[in-house]
Amino acid sequence: MHADLASVLAPEHRSAVPVFRDGYLDLLGDDDPTGGGPGQRLMVSRALPLIYERLWRPLGGRLLMGALGPDTAGERRIALEMLRISPGDAVLDVACGPGNFTQAFAGAAGDGPVVGLDASRTMLAQAARERPGDEIAWVRGSATELPFRDGSFDAVCCFAALYLIEEPLRAVAEIARVLAPGGRVALLSSVARGPLPAAAADFFVRPLTGVRIFGREDLTDALRAHGLVGVRLRITGLAQFVSGLRPPA
Ligand SMILES: C[S@@+](CC[C@H](N)C(=O)[O-])C[C@H]1O[C@@H](n2cnc3c(N)ncnc32)[C@H](O)[C@@H]1O
Repeated sequence: MHADLASVLAPEHRSAVPVFRDGYLDLLGDDDPTGGGPGQRLMVSRALPLIYERLWRPLGGRLLMGALGPDTAGERRIALEMLRISPGDAVLDVACGPGNFTQAFAGAAGDGPVVGLDASRTMLAQAARERPGDEIAWVRGSATELPFRDGSFDAVCCFAALYLIEEPLRAVAEIARVLAPGGRVALLSSVARGPLPAAAADFFVRPLTGVRIFGREDLTDALRAHGLVGVRLRITGLAQFVSGLRPPA
């Protein structure tokens, strides 16, 4: 097993015979927590991971952020600002896709353990193909049942995924659980804009696209409810960036 991974995995997941496939540790086997929405089906397809980073994500980001919003490099800068990763930090990228942000976190963390977790076999195989080596440990696991010890990470990112996850607030609870004292979190998701309340926008948009529309307090309130402080919200286009801190011990 990846030496760094052993330090953050919960004891019940430190199996004597870890199952490695295509460069990632598979902790889900036949389980698939991604649900049946149209967006989710694409994420586990064979084709999307091949064009995700260079085509799909930049276009999707532009649609979400609006014409004047940050591009991919800008999003990366925002993530790094919110996470304030120092050399030696343990970093988790939840729903990492093909690792398009995880790579930058590894650059900032130096020798610290960096884990990219996703539920999609094809996304993780692409991540491991594009970013082989020991710098990042790729894990197939569920965002709503993170396979890590309480308080094991100094920085946790979850970008462009909460709106696809079946139980997003359970994922937020898990992210807060694995955050160490002094640890930082960075979230990027959708937000309702315009005259319709979030619940009404969600009612119309989700059945068509599989994308959940959050209200502007949903994620900030959830982080505060889990004990995080310094919670900040930044809205651009139809996207919200949310950051927060677990108070130092
Ligand atoms: C749009 S991609 C985001 C990738 C990357 N974070 C980014 O910002 O570009 C969403 C990812 O969420 C993953 N995902 C969805 N539901 C999940 C779950 N319950 N547990 C873990 N990953 C999940 C999908 O497999 C997909 O790779």
